[in-house]
Amino acid sequence: MNEIVISGTGVFTPKESITNKELVEAYNAYAEKFNTLNKDLIDNGELDALELSNEDFIYSASGIKNRYVMDKKGILNPDIMHPILDRRNNDEPSILAEMSIEAAKQALDVSGKKPSDIDAVITACSNLERAYPAIAIEVQQYLGIQGFAFDMNVACSSATFGIQAAADMIKAGSAETILIVDPEICSGHLDFKDRDCHFIFGDVCTALILEKKASANSTNSFEILSTKCITQFSNNIRNNFGFLNNAKQSKTLDRDMLFMQEGRKVFKEVVPMVSQLILDHLSDENVEINDVKRLWLHQANKSMNDFIGKKVLGRTPEKNEQPNILQDYANTSSAGSIIAFSQYSEDMNKDEIGVLCSFGAGYSAGSVILRKT
Ligand code: COA
Repeated sequence: MNEIVISGTGVFTPKESITNKELVEAYNAYAEKFNTLNKDLIDNGELDALELSNEDFIYSASGIKNRYVMDKKGILNPDIMHPILDRRNNDEPSILAEMSIEAAKQALDVSGKKPSDIDAVITACSNLERAYPAIAIEVQQYLGIQGFAFDMNVACSSATFGIQAAADMIKAGSAETILIVDPEICSGHLDFKDRDCHFIFGDVCTALILEKKASANSTNSFEILSTKCITQFSNNIRNNFGFLNNAKQSKTLDRDMLFMQEGRKVFKEVVPMVSQLILDHLSDENVEINDVKRLWLHQANKSMNDFIGKKVLGRTPEKNEQPNILQDYANTSSAGSIIAFSQYSEDMNKDEIGVLCSFGAGYSAGSVILRKT
């Protein structure tokens, strides 16, 4: 897969953010109200009281301190507990397209490309806001891009699977220069009334430009040496919202219409799967571990990343070898590893190698070996 580069990245960060303290205060107000309202049932043993959430637990279990969101007010209102987004007319840009355009403009700028240089757009993300038309086609239209566009979803691994798809398409000749956007409003599918997971996600959008090395003139570009994607079915991260909900008479407020996970099982099963994927991938490509200067890992849980980093490098990674951004952004699904890559790649020297790796529901995991040009 030589000769294809990532020549630009962009990150759209929402204006509003929520600290653990603010989130816990809102959740605890909701839980106390729930317990008061249901006091009789709880006292009779017919209903479990809701336990309170805790800032220290959140930070020590996940490494998260803060998350950016598209709507703070609704999430922090104990009577609402979800973001409230405006309903737009069909002739207005959809909210995911709007975020994507902002991130895309940054990536175009960094790569020194114009919309007329792009001939395909891929939206690769977990949380698409509608069935069709594709968000990618809307982005294409607003940016004035020719060619074709489509949406794809491999949950948290969407961006790395998107990179593999785009690199393969450039290699095969179906496109020359591709824009990938990863808009994630994870707060829309998070149950803020569930203490076990209310702290996990945040909102963001990232963008990438992929093109042939020969056409690239960016000062910060990385050659894609190789990609490797794997999947293995698991129900441990699941969301049943979908196109058959109406036919199945599901209700939009049913708990399984939002993100659900068995966090402990995910942790235990995904860490070895991902460590092995990266080690196998490096070995397949004859890259020595000592030559890997950076790991840009999916940003879900700090301990998970610490385990993976240690297993791959065979020692505890230095801070700059495995940068984390989840303390500021929380888990932003497919966008997390791209934010880390975007923020921690400019300082690398020519020919230094790094691995971009994402993992999540499916299970799915994608590894991309990159070399600074
Ligand atoms: N505040 C206080 N206590 C809480 C709490 C909260 N918000 N949420 C859970 N707890 C309690 C639990 O009830 C449990 O109590 P118990 O020991 O009395 O039963 C205890 O804290 C530990 O809970 P557990 O769920 O086992 O915590 P954990 O250490 O596994 O951390 C996750 C939870 C979700 C942070 C962690 O499992 C994780 O990150 N897993 C991977 C998730 C992931 O990557 N998902 C991918 C999504 S794309």
